[in-house]
Amino acid sequence: MRLALRGGRLLDGAGDRGTHDLYVKDGVIEGLGLGGPVDVDVDAEGKLVTPAFLDLHVHLRDPGQEVKEDLASGLAAAAAGGYGTVVSMANTDPVVDDPGIVADLVARAARVEGARLRPAAAISRGLRGEELTDFAALKAAGAVMVTDDGVPVADSRLFRSACEYAAELGLVVQTHSEDPTLRDGGVMHEGAVSQRLGLPGNPDAAEAVMVFRDGEVARLTGARVHIAHVSSRRGLEVARWLKASGAPITVEVTPHHLTLTDESLCGFDPVYKVAPPLRTTDDVAALRAGLTDGSVDAIGTDHAPHTLAEKQQDMLTAPFGIANLEVAFPLLYTRLVLGGALPLERLLWLLQDGPARVMGWPAPRLEPGAPADVTVLDLGSERAVDGARFRTKAKHTPWQGEALRGWPVATVVAGRLVHRDEG
Ligand code: DOR
Ligand code: ZN
Repeated sequence: MRLALRGGRLLDGAGDRGTHDLYVKDGVIEGLGLGGPVDVDVDAEGKLVTPAFLDLHVHLRDPGQEVKEDLASGLAAAAAGGYGTVVSMANTDPVVDDPGIVADLVARAARVEGARLRPAAAISRGLRGEELTDFAALKAAGAVMVTDDGVPVADSRLFRSACEYAAELGLVVQTHSEDPTLRDGGVMHEGAVSQRLGLPGNPDAAEAVMVFRDGEVARLTGARVHIAHVSSRRGLEVARWLKASGAPITVEVTPHHLTLTDESLCGFDPVYKVAPPLRTTDDVAALRAGLTDGSVDAIGTDHAPHTLAEKQQDMLTAPFGIANLEVAFPLLYTRLVLGGALPLERLLWLLQDGPARVMGWPAPRLEPGAPADVTVLDLGSERAVDGARFRTKAKHTPWQGEALRGWPVATVVAGRLVHRDEG
C-alpha cells in the first residue's frame, strides 16, 4: 500500500521542511518527492502536512456505555479531528481494571478504521479508591497509563502506593486533581457567577490543593505524574512551583478551559457543564500564558461524550463533559493562533511533541522510517461548527454555529487514509 500527499507544506517539530510530495508506504513514511505509482493520492496543495496529533485524554465509553460512544465512533471522531493516537480513559462500565478488558480493547481497536488506541487502565478496582489494580498485568496487556480519571483518588496513602508501583514499571500516572470534599456537590466554578445563578460552586482551591498533593507524592516517589485538565490560575501556579522544585510532573490543559468561562453557564445550559469547571477570564488568561512559558506540557481534549437526553437534564442532574475531538484544532487555531495569543508551531508542539514527551514516546516526525501518522490541515478554510456532521455520537457542542478556520481535511494512520473531508 503506497500513498502520496501531494504539494503540501511539510511542518513538524524539527521545523519547516518546505513544499513537497510526501510518500508513505507499508505504514511508514517513505520519503519526499520520490515519484512512481501510488494506490492513493491526496491533494495537499495549499495545505499544511504535519504529524497526526496525540490526545492523552479521551473518553470512548467502550465497554458498556456505547449509547454515548464506542470504539468505532470515537476513533473515527479522533481521526476527523486530526488525531492519530488517543489514550482512552478507564471510567467505563465495567471499569478498565482487568487485563482482559485492556486486551479486548486493543484487539477490537485494531479492527477499527480511525486513530490508534492506547488504553489507560484504572488505578483502583472499580474506581472505588480502595484497592490498587494489577499494574504489571495491565501494562502487559497493553495499558500505557494508569488513571482513575473522572474520580479523584481521595486516599493519599493509596495514591502513594500507586505512584511507587507505577514508578517501578515506568507507567505514567494521570491524575484527576480535585479534592473531593472541597469540590463537594459543585456543578460550576465557585465565584460571582455561581452566586448570581444560585448554583453550587466548585472552588479553584479544590484543584490547587490536589495538584499540590499529587505533585508532592510524585516528588516523593519519583513517579511520572501527569496532571490532567488543569483549569485554574492557582492550580497552574502550584504545578509550576512543583516543577521548578524538581517534581516529575507534567501538565495538561483542555480546549474548553482555554476558550470558555463560567459566564457560559448563565443560560443554565449543561452543554457547558464539565469537571473541572469552566472558570474565569483570569484563569483562562493564566492557562493561555502557560502554553508558552513551559508550565503546560500538552493539550488533551478530555473528550467526554454523553447522550443528548442526559445533557438536556437540568444543571444539577446532567453529567459533566464536553465532546470536542472534532473541533479542538480549528478552535485553538482560530481563537489562539489567529487571535495572536500563540504561534502555530507552539500549538502543534502541544498536540504532537508535548504529549509524546509526557509518555516517553518518540517525537512524531515526517522522516523516512517514522510511523506514517500524518494530518493535512487546511488553514485557509473557514466553516461553521455543525454538530450534526460530527462522527462522535455526541452531536451537541458549545461551539455550534461558530465560524472556525483550520479544519483537518485528511488523516493518515499507519499509512492508511482514515479520514478525508469530502467538503
Ligand atoms: O467533564 C468530565 N467528564 N469530567 C470528568 O472528570 C469525567 C468526564 C466524563 O467521564 O464524562
Ligand atoms: Zn476525563
